[in-house]
Amino acid sequence: MQLTFVLSLFLLLFAPFASAESTPAQMRALLMTGYGAPEVLRLDQVPVPTPANGEVRIRIHAASVNPVDWKIRSGRLQKTSPVTLPYIPGRDVAGTIDAVGLGVTHWKVGDPVIAVVDGGGLAEYVVAPAENVAPKPAKLSFEKAAGIPTASLAAWRTLIVNADIKQGQRVLIHGGAGGVGSTAVQLANWRGAHVIATASERNHEYLREIGADEAIDYRTTRFEDVVKNVDVVLDTVGGDTLQRSPSVLREGGTLLTIVGRPPAEACSQRKLRCPSPSTATREQPGEELTKLGQLFDNGTLKMNVDAEFPLEGAVEALELSERGRARGKIIVRVLDEHASNTSARR
Ligand SMILES: NC(=O)c1ccc[n+]([C@@H]2O[C@H](COP(=O)([O-])OP(=O)(O)OC[C@H]3O[C@@H](n4cnc5c(N)ncnc54)[C@H](OP(=O)(O)O)[C@@H]3O)[C@@H](O)[C@H]2O)c1
Repeated sequence: MQLTFVLSLFLLLFAPFASAESTPAQMRALLMTGYGAPEVLRLDQVPVPTPANGEVRIRIHAASVNPVDWKIRSGRLQKTSPVTLPYIPGRDVAGTIDAVGLGVTHWKVGDPVIAVVDGGGLAEYVVAPAENVAPKPAKLSFEKAAGIPTASLAAWRTLIVNADIKQGQRVLIHGGAGGVGSTAVQLANWRGAHVIATASERNHEYLREIGADEAIDYRTTRFEDVVKNVDVVLDTVGGDTLQRSPSVLREGGTLLTIVGRPPAEACSQRKLRCPSPSTATREQPGEELTKLGQLFDNGTLKMNVDAEFPLEGAVEALELSERGRARGKIIVRVLDEHASNTSARR
């Protein structure tokens, strides 16, 4: 009895987490040392993070880039969401569990996972709250799986959790070819909605492949000239596109946005449902990612990778995202199983 107590105390004090044997002390990471142009980013050596209670450490195989990464770098979000410098960008990772903090019972070293993290993803290791982690879809490569978290969660929380779209509803998705839009079009199609999506003409064949019934070229056609009485609009573009969107909804329809605030006056005049852009839900991110992962595993959802970069090319990956033309997701390979190829693939 006494021996068990002493042993437990020893484990608590000197072995606070279970970890892989071969983890190094230092790792490569994309480090942001200030706000501004891409020059504030550089690849550097930093200590491998240690998981606190309730966290796991992930050996990252691949990460994906989101617009929020370059928005943080540019300083655009400095007032609303400041970060502590130096900061490691990156919110989406796929990899294997490398260490497990105290109190984590779901995960063990070696489990293949995906996770959404609050920065730190463009590195060789990251720690994540255990509730932000989900099994990696077995049929997807680590690269494709890394494309899931932030973008697919945004599509899921707006169209499925918030609007609960149904068979036969007419849904307009602005930016249907982007990271969020690609999953949104497929989720709307899976629910049996009639899907109308906007993109430039070069992406129209892609939109049809992923399940859009109609494609509108926003460069040549004002969507309000050709769309009327839709049940739901999901806007992933913002600005003028968001302001013009209430006019195409039927009375009582739903306007969903993930960029900016819904126009309050138009929402009340037209009796629209305009939930706040906050995508908070009752479920943990890991539970939602598990459901999304199953849809990717059973082929309902497909991940289109627009471009892949090695970790050495992470700065360029963010620059490509900033150009705003991604078709699907931009991926950063961290643990390169085919290490001979260190150039970008597109
Ligand atoms: N609040 C949240 O939780 C949340 C989560 C994820 C993302 N976001 C935000 O949502 C936005 C979209 O994210 P994302 O990851 O989907 O971005 P993304 O992948 O970079 O989006 C690129 C796509 O946008 C399309 N596009 C650009 N301008 C357009 C326009 N005027 N009309 C229609 N399509 C247009 C492009 O299509 P073409 O090449 O054909 O022009 C391209 O396919 C970003 O601002 C991001 O920060 C918010």
